Amino acid sequence: MRQSSLVVVANRLPIDDSVAPDGACEWRRSPGGLVSALLPLLRHTPATWVGWAGGTGPAPALPDVDGVRMHTVPLTADDLRDHYEGFANATLWPLYHDSVEQPEYHRSWWEAYQRVNQRFAEATADVAEPGAVVWVQDYHLQLVPGLLRELRPDLRIGFFLHVPFPPPELFMQLPRRAELLRGMLGADLIGFQRSQAAHNFAQLVAKVLDVPATDRRIAVDDRVVRIGAFPVSIDTAEMAALAARPDVADRAARLRHDLGSPEQVILSVDRMDYTKGIEQRLKAYSELIAHGHVKVRDTVLVQVAVPSRERVGQYQILRERVEREVGRINGEFGRVGEPAIHYLTQPFDRAELAALYRVADVMAVTPLRDGMNLVAKEYVAARVDDTGALLLSEFAGAAAELPQAYLVNPHDLEGLKQGLLAALRAGPDDLGARMRAMRAHLHRHDIRAWARSYLSALDDSGSLLTRLG
Ligand code: UDP
Ligand code: G6P
Repeated sequence: MRQSSLVVVANRLPIDDSVAPDGACEWRRSPGGLVSALLPLLRHTPATWVGWAGGTGPAPALPDVDGVRMHTVPLTADDLRDHYEGFANATLWPLYHDSVEQPEYHRSWWEAYQRVNQRFAEATADVAEPGAVVWVQDYHLQLVPGLLRELRPDLRIGFFLHVPFPPPELFMQLPRRAELLRGMLGADLIGFQRSQAAHNFAQLVAKVLDVPATDRRIAVDDRVVRIGAFPVSIDTAEMAALAARPDVADRAARLRHDLGSPEQVILSVDRMDYTKGIEQRLKAYSELIAHGHVKVRDTVLVQVAVPSRERVGQYQILRERVEREVGRINGEFGRVGEPAIHYLTQPFDRAELAALYRVADVMAVTPLRDGMNLVAKEYVAARVDDTGALLLSEFAGAAAELPQAYLVNPHDLEGLKQGLLAALRAGPDDLGARMRAMRAHLHRHDIRAWARSYLSALDDSGSLLTRLG
């Protein structure tokens, strides 16, 4: 077994096993912000990425991705149902997102979570070189730091949570709360998106485990675990360069033409997830049309909603409701060749997304709760001419960094409508000033700055940073 000095561990590998229209197996980029953040960072780094390749059955042999070695952890059909769809995405995901949907608790899901975390820990122990740095990602694998430390005490272990970490009153509901906290404490450094999350974690450790904890350090056994906020970001320069490419500009012009050359285009790009506030946004848009504030001939909404976690009941219900509402709005307000909403469910590649970002006069990112939201940051990075308006939920992690966005509370329908109108009606000077400030922020705080701050905190010797290239 070949070993690496840097190992990233995430539930998903950056490529996903999918079936082509002709039935052949093909690989495509995995969905979501975690992969968008880590892939450009690790490019051409001698690292190993441990993860699941999608699907069930024996582990496929995967090619390197951008020079990064892939190490697959297989999941059985039971693991998929009880670990991924169950404990990870029907217990932890809703609980960590303010319980906007009711979390479900089942003992068999917990057993699967333990079993799969153990398998990930063992796979990681096999591929980590002596003294290696291991960086464990996200809520699917919260037990891995503790399990891995038992197997390999020589490793330097980091854990980063991409999603929010909830306040004590929500987390206390979890039947296996103490085990989850102990699992995370196996790390040397635990990173969160926001300082509030680090604070929630410290409070819980003190309350549930009776271990003294501050928002920065926790002494456990004979070790010190450091905790802190490290807001994740994007490859700002790469997105800006992509958006500035002549073929992307041509594609953007074509898209605007194909949309009927409206005066203004509103764009939303989400995974089909109940945390993203899609239904509230559609309602706000439809009321603005119904009350004559927005005219379909002048303004169109492009809603990209890529299906996600499709076998989980709450996601199926959401999709049905969204599609019914899109149908109602288009039926009521659209005309032949002039729909009010252009609704698209297929995933777009980076160049097509960059073209869409260029077309969008207003980018509406209005989640009910989101750890960060990289789409918001990508839009800003793509607006290389300092035009365009970002409508952003106060409950997205990105809001703390982008106060120049039009900030809204997506639970407040009237506020959401006013925010959308303000973004649609803003003048170029105001928009330019806001966009310049946001772009400057993202150029300073890009994905490399994120990795530098996290990894220099994890590895005080600094030797790890040189390995990232
Ligand atoms: N994305 C994509 N193609 C699509 C839709 C989304 O590549 O058709 C990417 C998008 O560019 C972003 C990521 O998926 O990098 C979504 O990350 P975000 O943090 O916004 O939300 P998440 O899906 O992780 O909750
Ligand atoms: C969020 C999570 C990631 C996850 C992604 C896509 O960004 O934080 O861990 O990979 O959503 O979700 P999926 O269930 O398709 O992996």
